[in-house]
Amino acid sequence: MFFVVGDRDRLIEQYPRNQVWAEIGVYRGDFSQKVVDICKPAEYYLIDNWTFEIKDHNPFPDEAENFGGFSSKIHWQHFGDDPVATQEHNYQHVTSRFAKNAEVKIVRANSIDGIKSLPDRHFDIMYVDANHQYEYVLRDMMEARTKLKPGGIMQMNDFYEGPGGADQNLGVMGAVNTFVKRYDFHYIAMSFGAYSDVILAEDPTSPLVMQFLENLNNSNLTFFGMSEALVPNIRYKAYRKKDGSERYLPMF
Ligand SMILES: C[S@@+](CC[C@H](N)C(=O)[O-])C[C@H]1O[C@@H](n2cnc3c(N)ncnc32)[C@H](O)[C@@H]1O
Repeated sequence: MFFVVGDRDRLIEQYPRNQVWAEIGVYRGDFSQKVVDICKPAEYYLIDNWTFEIKDHNPFPDEAENFGGFSSKIHWQHFGDDPVATQEHNYQHVTSRFAKNAEVKIVRANSIDGIKSLPDRHFDIMYVDANHQYEYVLRDMMEARTKLKPGGIMQMNDFYEGPGGADQNLGVMGAVNTFVKRYDFHYIAMSFGAYSDVILAEDPTSPLVMQFLENLNNSNLTFFGMSEALVPNIRYKAYRKKDGSERYLPMF
């Protein structure tokens, strides 16, 4: 597993061009735009339901640590006071943003139905970034796995546990750690910083993985190898700087 001192944009720069991509959880398409511009996908499916239901984000409304105190204002900085209207607007935004991109196919559906509707064993890279609770992430990954080509890659956003995790009931790190053990996947690389991306593959020697690693090796990025056994134990700590801002450090 290679720990790359750079953000997720630096990771996707290492993929070969003209791959078949899907992104599960699109929001306003800002990351999708980067994939289009940097990776030049041959096909790119964007799946999102572009709606918002509080029950999908708060399994235990009486539990103050898991969103209880937010009472329907979860992520209000992203979704505002009227999340359904905001999401409708986001959908229109993504539709017009990629209207001229013939390679982009927009699927408005919940993640499971959307992934199920995709062709089997068709995708080189599946980027999973929808609901971040453990059960949702795990199920998205289980469905996405059947859509990967042999040798394909799954990339996950918000692979993080530390301060702030409780606010979102963040379950990505837990779900990924479960998934890799159940399905014998391997950690290939992850980005630096809080709310990292992590790249996984069932076959760590596939041509796509080898090309990614060769490109990483030929880049000017700093990266280092770490035992896969350490990855599930990574935790982040927040340190306050003199100027009041916080720095998140991964602790191995
Ligand atoms: C974190 S945002 C995605 C951000 C985007 N990948 C990016 O990096 O710019 C999560 C998105 O997932 C979508 N989402 C959450 N749960 C979902 C579900 N069960 N089915 C489909 N989409 C879902 C939300 O509508 C939201 O737009």
